[in-house]
Amino acid sequence: MKNVVLISASPKMAEQSLSKYLLEILEGMVNSPSLKKNTIDVRKSISHHTTDEDFTILSQADALVIAFPLYFFCLPGILTRFLEDYLNFMKKHEIQSKPMKVYTIVNCGFPEPGINLEAARVIQSFSHHIHAYFRFAIMIGGGGMLLEAKDAPFLKKTWRNLNDAFAKILQDIQSDTFDDIENICISVKFPRRLYFMMGNHNWKSLAKQNGLKKKDLYFTPYQ
Ligand SMILES: Cc1cc2nc3c(=O)[nH]c(=O)nc-3n(C[C@H](O)[C@H](O)[C@H](O)COP(=O)(O)O)c2cc1C
Repeated sequence: MKNVVLISASPKMAEQSLSKYLLEILEGMVNSPSLKKNTIDVRKSISHHTTDEDFTILSQADALVIAFPLYFFCLPGILTRFLEDYLNFMKKHEIQSKPMKVYTIVNCGFPEPGINLEAARVIQSFSHHIHAYFRFAIMIGGGGMLLEAKDAPFLKKTWRNLNDAFAKILQDIQSDTFDDIENICISVKFPRRLYFMMGNHNWKSLAKQNGLKKKDLYFTPYQ
């Protein structure tokens, strides 16, 4: 029996999170009797003060999947804190990691999936620190669109590619081999100019909802 731990790490509270949604799809695919699954929501873990219980679950994992959105070209702060605290927890309790396989699913707002690479490398470095085996990343571009236009025909191929990528994670978890696997890039097939026009429109309406004007979006408070 292999123990799979799924970590959901979007800081979003009320809004729908793509990272969480993707992890739920993957969780639904973990249905082999040889796999046991546990899900940890990082935001809940920190705010409900249950990190120690969750770190114990994490330390018993054979495979770990970390899903998160790209924030400022890196990990959201809550995830960095959670992983650092886990390292300290391991040291404090003198925990020796199992030979765990690590995967990450990282999505960003820009259309190019490769923008996620540095963040994926941070997870790779974390895996190295806990003596785990980083296997590969699924890097997704155009994340903002995937949920908003979920059922649109032009996204069919992207969702199919995501399902194939998740199947690859499950296959690798169940395999006892450690052959190299390349990171998987997944993008949305959509006209780039239109994508940015829609993005800019969203920023402006968000500003309006928060009582700001368009020019306030260019405010540089730290200069
Ligand atoms: C504070 C913040 C910082 C962000 N930084 C980036 C970034 O550096 N690059 C990028 O492409 N997208 C960035 N985004 C967009 C998110 O990565 C994107 O909206 C993602 O789909 C959110 O995923 P989630 O629904 O799982 O939270 C940022 C979003 C927020 C709120």
